[in-house]
Amino acid sequence: MERLTLDVNGCFDPAAEGLDRGDLAGVAAAALGAFDGFQARREKGELGFADLPADAATADATERLAKDLGGRFENLLVLGIGGSSLGGRAIVSALAHPFHNLLPRERRGAMRIFFPDNSDPATFEALLGTLDLADTCFATVTKSGGTAETMSQHLALRARCIARFGEEGYRERCVLVTDPAKGALREIARAEGLRALPVPANVGGRFSALSAVGLLPAAAAGVDVAELLAGASAMEARCRTGDVLGNPALLYAAALHLMDRRRGRRIHVLMPYADALRDTGDWFVQLWAESLGKRPDVGPTPFRAVGATDQHSSLQLMVEGPQDKVVTLVRVASPRADLSLSVPEGYRRFGEIAYLDGHTMGELLEAERRATDAALRKAGRPTISITLPRLDARAMGELLMLLELATAYAGGLYGVNAFDQPGVEAGKRYAQGLLGRPGFEQYRDELAGAAKPDPALVLA
Ligand code: PA5
Repeated sequence: MERLTLDVNGCFDPAAEGLDRGDLAGVAAAALGAFDGFQARREKGELGFADLPADAATADATERLAKDLGGRFENLLVLGIGGSSLGGRAIVSALAHPFHNLLPRERRGAMRIFFPDNSDPATFEALLGTLDLADTCFATVTKSGGTAETMSQHLALRARCIARFGEEGYRERCVLVTDPAKGALREIARAEGLRALPVPANVGGRFSALSAVGLLPAAAAGVDVAELLAGASAMEARCRTGDVLGNPALLYAAALHLMDRRRGRRIHVLMPYADALRDTGDWFVQLWAESLGKRPDVGPTPFRAVGATDQHSSLQLMVEGPQDKVVTLVRVASPRADLSLSVPEGYRRFGEIAYLDGHTMGELLEAERRATDAALRKAGRPTISITLPRLDARAMGELLMLLELATAYAGGLYGVNAFDQPGVEAGKRYAQGLLGRPGFEQYRDELAGAAKPDPALVLA
């Protein structure tokens, strides 16, 4: 069976001030240590994301719930933020029709899915004002069970549902995805008799794409969840060695780590040549940033671009700007669709476009990807290539697991814990203090006591 390919030759290209096999040999022991460290935590039950593809019970329960909701409602709102939104959105946008929500039900064959994500009331109010609430249900997704942005959306929607359909109508429309035992949302599930799917206690937000967090919206959008998990499982099986040249995720982590530490290339760009993977880029940015940005001297900066669109935007910076980036180009070998181009007789005199004649749009995109790779390397900029045989559920499962495992190993290589996010928690505490949460007064007071702004620096 065809499978995902990782090619790091572009990091070993002398033209791109590349690494050499000695660098790789030099990092082998550290890579093995990162692998062993991850496996040890996994075996102790501390880290569960790599075991999610084997959790058939949750996958079944999730599919059953999605089917039930799909049989009764047209729209599913996924209320969540950060890791509780990005993974599901990445999967749905990669695998559903690009205009899924615009298709009539008979062509869509599944629910319309919305990820409001942010707690910007302007967007949320507009969304609620657009959808028919009678035909809408919602999944409130928060691992911790109390994230303010998510719970504010939940409260707003709960109030509207109760006002319009009564308590029972609200219960029919609301499902929860949260920690199996802890947190306010788990208590709410018990108190209100709501259906709730678990996020295993040892799976953190940004590593939860293959739990019910991502599987519920995926199943509701008609994604083949079994194939998604099979792809993730196949990648996990390929990554069961601490040999850097045998484990794709370890090689990816080691190449990026070496490029950062030995060549100062600390901006890591993910640039898929597929619109459907745009949201996967956003998901990767969160995964890499929140997992690895842990000390003033540790934190490669992830950046998302999309080919060919960003060839007309940030590529100039990548080719001629500071020598601080590694660009991972993601290619889909067999696109889902293609369009043949024919330049009409009357247009042939316009030499600038005549060469397009007889080609397809897919050939153009692929030529652009190859050209970008060559231009970057020629300018001394390292690249990595990931090729998916096609963009289907299996390949998407492979890609997600590759990047999650690479992040875990990179944490080991950098010597940081990739699985916490104290910086995010600090911001949450200040916001809760400002909103008057009892016990959080010190954070509000700290902000009140902060240095007053210099009026000379404020132009009103
Ligand atoms: O990766 C993480 O842990 C975070 O990005 C969380 O996903 C995000 O803060 C949302 O948290 P929660 O799922 O608890 O609402």
